Amino acid sequence: MVTTAGAAREPVSAATPTGVVTPIESAVDVALDALSRGGLVAIPTETVYGLAGDAANERAVARIFAAKGRPADHPLIVHIAAATELERWAASVPPAAARLAATCWPGPLTVLVPKAAHVLDAVTGGRDTVGLRVPAHPLTLELLTRFGGAVAAPSANRFGRVSPTSAEHVRHDLGDLVDVVLDGGPCPVGVESTIVDCTTDPPQVLRPGGIADEEIAALLDGDLAEASGPSRAAGMLGSHYAPECRVELAESAAQADALARARTAEGLRVDVIDATSDLAAYARWLYAWLRAADDRHLDVIVAVLPPPAGLGHAIRDRLIKAAATR
Ligand code: TXA
Ligand code: MG
Repeated sequence: MVTTAGAAREPVSAATPTGVVTPIESAVDVALDALSRGGLVAIPTETVYGLAGDAANERAVARIFAAKGRPADHPLIVHIAAATELERWAASVPPAAARLAATCWPGPLTVLVPKAAHVLDAVTGGRDTVGLRVPAHPLTLELLTRFGGAVAAPSANRFGRVSPTSAEHVRHDLGDLVDVVLDGGPCPVGVESTIVDCTTDPPQVLRPGGIADEEIAALLDGDLAEASGPSRAAGMLGSHYAPECRVELAESAAQADALARARTAEGLRVDVIDATSDLAAYARWLYAWLRAADDRHLDVIVAVLPPPAGLGHAIRDRLIKAAATR
């Protein structure tokens, strides 16, 4: 595995002792080379790190599923460089998808649209829809633009576990299963993209994420429904995002405190997560905190649920799934 830091992204030249100028590869050059050869590259995004492979390369896509230990019927999101690429990957672009993409991209939004004929069944799990998104990270946007194609990328964690929000998390989870880690620093949003199924009328939010449901509803003039039907079944598991330690939920700081005291009295090692006063920070650090609980060999993490509004929708969703019976 090669780790290539974003700081070195501008190509520079170095004079060798013979006076010949040799270009030194930038981080993006190294990642681009791996992608073009069908390799796997961990890409930074504003939400979480993705495990990316050429979306048009059957073997690269198969390697993604193998590295994650992910069932084949869980489709992958296709990451594109710009909204203008939508039409290349969609058989048709529903008006809701066009409107959301125009406002939210690059950003933490994935739209489900009817897939173009060339989109591999391996990417969509045999479905006739494809999830598309333009991630907001300068290194990954540069990579996608220079690549010219698109990358299929799930979160770069082992199946069912906590998503990675730093290059270090990816190295810890996937080690040499990934060819290149493009280190773009910690992910500023910290929870995955909001997934909106634009193939139904009205559209549905399948997964709350970095863009609040309220914002999506406003952009669609309120024409948005609760998730139901077949799209919802694709990989939306009850248990997900789970650390090794047990996660227990509280509705208030006082309730969390009482629960933590009770577990401590049982002889368990316990800590409390509560950033309800700053939901952006809660989302940004949530996965790092869950991972830290395992590093510290805690038995129980008690997490205070934020109210279901704004980023609170996504944080609640992840915590409830982290706490679900496995
Ligand atoms: O923020 C994100 O979305 C991150 C970054 C890397 O872009 N990606 C991510 O991918 O979270 P993943 O694979 O961990 O989660 C994508 C979810 C899965 O539950 C998958 O089943 C669902 O999206 N999905 C993808 N394509 C779909 C489709 N065509 N129909 C229904 N669900 C789909
Ligand atoms: Mg994931």
